[in-house]
Amino acid sequence: MRDNPIGIFDSGVGGTSIWREIQKLLPFENTIYLADSKNAPYGEKSKDDILRLSIKNTEVLLKNDCKLVVVACNTATTNAIDYLRKNYDVPFIGIEPAIKPAALQSKTKTVGVLATKGTLASSLFHSTSEIHASGINVIVREGTGLVQLIEEGKVDSQETRKLLLKHVRPMIDEGIDYLVLGCTHYPYLVPILKEILPESVQIIDSGEAVARQTKSILNKNGLLASQRSKAYHRFYTNANIHVLESFVMNGETDYNVSVLDF
Ligand code: SIN
Repeated sequence: MRDNPIGIFDSGVGGTSIWREIQKLLPFENTIYLADSKNAPYGEKSKDDILRLSIKNTEVLLKNDCKLVVVACNTATTNAIDYLRKNYDVPFIGIEPAIKPAALQSKTKTVGVLATKGTLASSLFHSTSEIHASGINVIVREGTGLVQLIEEGKVDSQETRKLLLKHVRPMIDEGIDYLVLGCTHYPYLVPILKEILPESVQIIDSGEAVARQTKSILNKNGLLASQRSKAYHRFYTNANIHVLESFVMNGETDYNVSVLDF
């Protein structure tokens, strides 16, 4: 069981930013990644649809004997993880916007959160903000359109830069000193963000924290890989294989990208 793969799913290619952190921290773990790009973006869908898609992805991963599932999508975590934890036996790791560290470290007491409509509307997001950011001015902004552009492989384009600037400008004007990336696609925008944000604004995402939490839960459950052999990484997409390939290309790992109808 301990050498079974870790399962990871996202609405598309964004969760590979989480996969990368997991692979860095847990190099002996085998992984299976599902990119549900056919149904991206989840952030514009109803809670019921997000739940249905999350169940579908989970069942594909469990059929492939995954020992733990990482919901590498903020929108799916905030809308579906409670259901998944109650209805399946494996441990689930979710991704929530890193509001707590931003609120703790902010000097201007003003932090920005860039996330999808589905994440910002969720009750989990509201309760997290109330608990961890009381007394902090939290400026939220829906990153409408950004996930689509990333899924189209247009990370480094003028179109993306223009849209990103439109989304973050109001937060800059409000005086944020921390910008929380509340969507696993957005870490791919960090190079552009670094160019457009003032130097005083720090960017926070949840990738490393999720990898540490994955390690801790595997350890607690006696599920850490035995470190006997080189890990394998299988990536599946139900849409454009070339886009997913361009996000995971890494000559050093044993990886395989293919198309799967799920
Ligand atoms: C989306 O599919 O809209 C974004 C995924 C996320 O929230 O991380």
